[in-house]
This record gives sequence, structure tokens and C-alpha cells, in this order.
Amino acid sequence: MDKYIIDGGEKLYGEVVAQSAKNTVLPLLAASVLTDEQVKIRGVPTIADVENMMRILTEVGCKIRRQKDCAIIDSANAVSHEIPPRLTKELRSSVFMLGSVLTRFHRAKISYPGGCDIGLRPIDLHLSGLKRLGVEIIEEGGYIECKADKLTGAEILLDFPSVGATENIILAAVKAQGITVIRNAAKEPEIADLQNFLNAMGAKVYGAGGGTIVVEGVRRLHGVDYTPIGDRIEIGTYLIATASCGGEIETSGVPAENIAALLHKLRENGCKIYTKNDKIILRSNGVLKSVDLVETMPFPGFPTDMQAQYSALCTTARGTTLVVENLFETRYKYAGELKRMGADVTVRGRTAVIRGVEKLHGARLTAGDLRGGAALVVAALKAEGRSEVIDLSHIDRGYADFEYKLKKLGAKIRRVRI
Ligand code: UD1
Repeated sequence: MDKYIIDGGEKLYGEVVAQSAKNTVLPLLAASVLTDEQVKIRGVPTIADVENMMRILTEVGCKIRRQKDCAIIDSANAVSHEIPPRLTKELRSSVFMLGSVLTRFHRAKISYPGGCDIGLRPIDLHLSGLKRLGVEIIEEGGYIECKADKLTGAEILLDFPSVGATENIILAAVKAQGITVIRNAAKEPEIADLQNFLNAMGAKVYGAGGGTIVVEGVRRLHGVDYTPIGDRIEIGTYLIATASCGGEIETSGVPAENIAALLHKLRENGCKIYTKNDKIILRSNGVLKSVDLVETMPFPGFPTDMQAQYSALCTTARGTTLVVENLFETRYKYAGELKRMGADVTVRGRTAVIRGVEKLHGARLTAGDLRGGAALVVAALKAEGRSEVIDLSHIDRGYADFEYKLKKLGAKIRRVRI
């Protein structure tokens, strides 16, 4: 077990290059079983979620080689349609394997997926979408078993624009007979990236990034060599840290339109932000004014995955911020830890009221989930004195080289064995 030791109060200066987006790499890895030719994914980050997804692929019979930061996946000998529970409980994205394994083997069996404990996270939209494509689903004893001798294109209207359900349906529809239309689809940039990846394999997917996605089933998909988009949540975290601590950061790999909602708020907070192509420059004097309201929404709204880190920034902004979390029910578990640092946060259900305080002080903190853990690091970087953050396994799920990248910006952070 490791912990971070952070001496707060340093301003941050320098450059950060985005890792490939975790939320793209995971569905791309799942999609690699759609072909028996070689799939090469470049810039694969060394994070626990990716390692777990690769373990799942190995379990179904894929061979994976790591070559520098590339993952080369050979699914020619994939044999199994079953994902063992010990792997699904580690990773919610194991659910993507339903769509791709179904396409490959016409059947799939997984246990209910795990992931961050941030709310109920049902998968009813995934399952009802798959049913529309002709999949028979049996839910029994904690397992979901899917069968479809033939997958057939269909019109699917999602009750809510779920990212995972949209991706899973695309993966199941890509070789189905006929045309699938997904309405009220999620619009996240990672879905457009999945579309581009699949089309580079010979698929016919159109419209991702908008609310209606059309998938024209093809008979065969071939190998691909692909570089995923940069991680907007990772870059957002470094931007928030710099905004909060003060300093100047230049990020590359994520175009401003992918995190426009965050940049809009940071400008309101008083940061100076310049953007060009995939570069974002943010300048902050570390004395921020609060914004009245931040409400998480599906893309292009304010991302739920940035809510915790942004709330950490609000704790020392001048004034009161009302935060509303619309996506997940229990995504404020980090708030208790922030209070131990002197933050003034009141949480009621999906709402948090954050009254800015003059300063935070260092404390011994426990990361409870991925983004909540990152929020504690953001707060500790700003706080007066020394903080320790334990339970880094959560943070390791999503940030490659976190302490290294922060150290390069001038942060006083060390990772030590407990
Ligand atoms: C994905 C992201 C996650 C992000 C989330 C929202 C990946 C690997 N993970 O998660 O980082 O926080 O999008 O942007 O891409 N819902 C249902 N039924 C379903 C599916 C979802 O009710 O079948 C609800 C969820 O409970 C939640 C909302 O829909 O309230 C959004 O969830 P969804 O977009 O599906 O998130 P994930 O795909 O799990």
C-alpha cells in the first residue's frame, strides 16, 4: 500500500500532455474482440482500470502484447463468452464486453459489474437496448446471460443518454443484420472516438457526438492501428489544481470543446484561459471568486467526473457555490474528508453547499473513489501544511503518473510505501 505526502501551498507552473482517455481505451479494448485480426491501440495509459480490462480480454482467450505504450491485441484464438466475477467486480466497464462478446460468440455471460461506489449504477438501459436487437437475456444468481443466434438492427430510444448503454448497443449492432438507430444517444467525445475506431475497422457508424447514431451492420471487421483521444478528465484535473493553487499551465492533447463546460466555470472563477487547437493555457493568481451554481449534466454539460475536483476548488473560492450532482446518487463521499481540512461543505442528497473559507489546513485523508481521491489531492495541494492521502488504489484506476506530472508542475508531492 502506498500513500501520498503532500506539502501544500506551491503554485503550479509548466506543461502537461494528456494520457489517452481512460473512457475511450476501455471500450476500444472491449471492441478489439470484434475482429480476429490484430488491433493496435497507441498511448495506452498504465492505469488499473486498463490493466483489469486487459485481464478480462486475456481471460476470454485474447493474446495481448505491450510494446512501449502500445497494446497489441490478437483475438484470433478468443474462445470464451464468460467473464469471471472476480474481474467484473473490479471494473464497471466489463459490461462493454456484453456487446462485443455477443457479436463475436452470439452469447455472453457476466456477473453484475463493479467499479466506483458512487451510486446505484444500474444497467437496465444496456439490457433493454440489447433486447431490441434480438438478444434473449436471463438474469439469475447475480449473472447476466445473453444469447442471440442472430442480432438484428432496430430503432432504440434511450430513456436517458447513458454513455455505457450507447457504447454497448453500438458494439452489439456493428455486425447485426440491418440498420440500428439509437435516439437520445449520449454525446460524449469518447463515443465519437469509438465510432472512429470502429469505422477504421470497416464498420459503418454515423452520427456519434450527436443525439442520433446510425449503425449499419457489416459482415466483417478487420484489424486497426489507432491512437485514442486525450483524457479530458485528467487534463481537467490539472487545470483545476492550477486554478486553485495559482500559477500557469499549458495542456495539450485535449481540445477546448471537449471540456468547454469546465473552462466556462474556471473563467467565471477569474482564471485567464487561452485555447488553440488541442492546447489550453490557464493562468490563475490563486485567489478565485465563486460561481453560484455548478450542475452536472450529460455532455456537453458539466461532467460528473469533474464534480469532486471542482468542488475542492470551490472550498477556498470567495463566496458560496451550490453544486448539484444529477448523474450519481452518492458522489459526495469525499466531502467529509474536505471538512477535516477546514472546508465548509453541507451535503443534502444530490446537493452540496460550499462556502469558501480563507484557507484549508493539511490533514490525513482517505481516498474513497477515483475522482473523489483526485479532489483530495487538489485540496491538499492548496492547503497550508502537510497532508497524507491513503488508499491510492482508487486514484491509480484513472491517473497515470499522477504524482510525477504534478511534481513536474512544481507540486511538493511524494508517493511512499506505508
Ligand atoms: C460513464 C463513464 C463515467 C462517467 C459517466 C457519466 C466510462 C467507462 N465511464 O459511465 O466515468 O461518470 O459515464 O458521464 O465511460 N443509468 C441507468 N441505467 C443504465 C445505465 C445508466 O439508469 O442502464 C444511469 C446511471 O445510474 C447514471 C446515468 O444513467 O445516473 C449515467 O450513467 P452512464 O452514462 O451510463 O455512465 P457510465 O457509462 O456508467
